[in-house]
Amino acid sequence: MSIRIAGTGSYVPDRVMTNADLEKMVETSDEWIRTRTGIQERRIAAPEQATSDLAYEAGKRALEMAGITGDQLSVIIVATITPDHVFPSTGCILQKRFGASNAFCFDLEAACSGLLYSLEVGHSLMKANPKYKYALVIGAEKLSSITDWTDRNTCVLFGDGAGAVVLENTGAEGADCLLASDLHADGGYADILIMPAGGSRMPFTAETLANHMHSIHMAGRETFKLAVNAMVSACKKTLEDANVAPSEIRMVVPHQANQRIIQAVAQRLDVANDRVFENIGHYGNTSAASIGICLDEIIRSGDIERGDYLLLTAFGGGLTWGAILLRY
Ligand code: ACO
Repeated sequence: MSIRIAGTGSYVPDRVMTNADLEKMVETSDEWIRTRTGIQERRIAAPEQATSDLAYEAGKRALEMAGITGDQLSVIIVATITPDHVFPSTGCILQKRFGASNAFCFDLEAACSGLLYSLEVGHSLMKANPKYKYALVIGAEKLSSITDWTDRNTCVLFGDGAGAVVLENTGAEGADCLLASDLHADGGYADILIMPAGGSRMPFTAETLANHMHSIHMAGRETFKLAVNAMVSACKKTLEDANVAPSEIRMVVPHQANQRIIQAVAQRLDVANDRVFENIGHYGNTSAASIGICLDEIIRSGDIERGDYLLLTAFGGGLTWGAILLRY
């Protein structure tokens, strides 16, 4: 039995927030943001839009490309750190909107590595149980809802959006879409990238609110160094396991956290910049959504063909990181 990518979709909100807009909010400059991160602008959801609304638009487009309807789905997995609610899951909210009455649904939390983790889980579920014909995997975030708009260290980095993938069990023998993977976590670094309050450890109080504890806190420099080493080693291990050389990869698709991280990873893998996908300039870091948005843009651009290799790699809070080699 082989699993293939049957469709992809993505969605970003209409509202564009430029670096010039941020210059009016915090002590920063367009020049600093561009040179340190590569970000020129990001998309910000409307106040009434929740993560499931972004996910719905991306998922709808992926279902359309796959040529299926929601009732054909067996499972919906939503990777997010900004669910609509702590419970019920964003997956359950989407089940109703897609009319996916035959699907079981859950959220998966692995921060920026969420889409990689979800692809691995979705793919494994389908391999384990042939009765699952279609899985919808979505990475979606409304990071603007957990951004501290007074903290220049973080607020310039993030944006909102969603990316989705439909996996299909073709029912036939043949080439599978997931050739190899190397996923990791290290909870020893949980504190360097964290939203401290809002969970059971530090429930909401007037004090946590006043102390800006309901937003992303990040030790940027430390995260940067760990990210490059971790992604490079996961990519190398994945290629080695699949016996594929870097020169055979059509496109490296890195999580879009920082242009300098992306370029450092590409350099260390010895892959030319024109084979490393980048859209961070327009969207910033959209956490679990970023790789899904990239995949959809690559596939819809027509630049790749069935059979091409895509090397996905991500790094994020947890810490979590990894790589997946896909054959489109
Ligand atoms: N505008 C102007 N100055 C700023 C800004 C800003 N927006 N932000 C920070 N600075 C200042 C700092 O205060 C510091 O000043 P100081 O030297 O006087 O103390 C100086 O700029 C340099 O700060 P650094 O933190 O060293 O800057 P760096 O070059 O490391 O860039 C950044 C910071 C962009 C955050 C980078 O470290 C980074 O991208 N880190 C990794 C992010 C990442 O990969 N996250 C993982 C995924 S996110 C997730 O999982 C949700």
